[in-house]
Amino acid sequence: MRYDLIIRDAEVWSSAGSLRADVAVRGGVIEEVGSLPTARAWEEVDAAGAWLLPGAIDTQVHFREPGNEHKEDLESGSRAAVLGGVTAFFDMPNTSPATTSAEALEHKARRAAGRCYAHFAFYVGATAENAAQLGDLELRPACCGVKVFMGSSTGDLLVEDDATLELVLRNGRRRVAVHAEDESRLRERRPIAEERADPSAHPEWRDVDSALLATRRLLRLAERTGRPVHLLHVSTADEARLVAEAKARKVDVTAEVTPQHLILYAPDCYERLGTLAQMNPPIRDSWHQSALRAALLDGVFDVVGSDHAPHTLEEKARPYPKSPSGMPGVQTLLPGLLNLCWEGFLSPQQVVRLVCEGPADLFGIRGKGRVAPGFDADLVLLDPNEGRVVERSMLASKCGWSPFEGELLFGWPSLVWVKGRRVVAEGKIVGEPCGEALEFDL
Ligand code: DOR
Repeated sequence: MRYDLIIRDAEVWSSAGSLRADVAVRGGVIEEVGSLPTARAWEEVDAAGAWLLPGAIDTQVHFREPGNEHKEDLESGSRAAVLGGVTAFFDMPNTSPATTSAEALEHKARRAAGRCYAHFAFYVGATAENAAQLGDLELRPACCGVKVFMGSSTGDLLVEDDATLELVLRNGRRRVAVHAEDESRLRERRPIAEERADPSAHPEWRDVDSALLATRRLLRLAERTGRPVHLLHVSTADEARLVAEAKARKVDVTAEVTPQHLILYAPDCYERLGTLAQMNPPIRDSWHQSALRAALLDGVFDVVGSDHAPHTLEEKARPYPKSPSGMPGVQTLLPGLLNLCWEGFLSPQQVVRLVCEGPADLFGIRGKGRVAPGFDADLVLLDPNEGRVVERSMLASKCGWSPFEGELLFGWPSLVWVKGRRVVAEGKIVGEPCGEALEFDL
């Protein structure tokens, strides 16, 4: 019987390395990885010289639907995702209204069905009001877990005190994703931003101690409650050290770093990009950047997420600090990381671990993250030698800009399949939205 798809003679990557193989797919699932010279398929692709990766999984995006669809929506965000090789995403709950109830989760999942090019799941936002229900909410269909904002950022989600945070951690058992900045310190220091009125003040307002204090509080409570936690977008050397120490003490903590924090640094980014480089937690100086890179090589970070947080250029043009925080990044996540391979900093194996296998293992995503028999055929084929300069015309996000404009990046997908269906060819969307709700092994 014919397969639906055979990708022939590709260099197939995993966290263990690569092998030259044919990959055969039927019914959206990978059936064989090996030498299949006599097998036939309805769609055959000669991939000699190309790399085949599992579709990347971005565990932190803000697709703005419902409520702020002028910045992004599930369709446009997922279009940007697959064009960059991201075949699954976890969407954050700071939409409008915020995703804090079963109804809001269902509403998002209903909107996503039939409109997403990539597979999807949604975080439920923690509040003082829903803390007692989170154990039930986190188990709803299409939910990837609970998200906590310890410091306020875009939107009004906030769990600022330890008593409420402990209540949140004691209700439920899945890994809780946390934005760790200390709200009372942020409030106290806000005048710094108002007085300086320049985006280069952002890392001074939301300083190292703002992040460190919150991370310390979180780790203490994680240790006390035994609840697994996931620290989002770590931005300081100090937090990386805390995480490494907590891991050594067997605290169940995992951590994320973003490409922005690995690639950009202050003051250069604020001089070049102004408020476009403004995000929470902030991009800091090159000392922190180097420390984050070193921590990444030491295995402190389990995943890299984009924190895709689109705002329009008009919104970003407001005078700082009225300008909103956040940068788009889902489309440049994989090329951005692969570029760090060409720089000799990361290996392709590490990239596969950080954006494919790591996310799948950490969150227990069923059938994702590997090019292996029995796994879903979410696949990315790319020519490692083909570079493209990031230009506005190729960006699918509704916000229409990228902090990496003008950069020559290698690692753009030439073909992307979602559950065996071709959705991207030569940098263009060619298929229908066929993303499905992610399922989890709990
Ligand atoms: O810079 C940020 N932007 N950090 C966040 O935590 C939220 C995000 C957004 O939604 O705009």
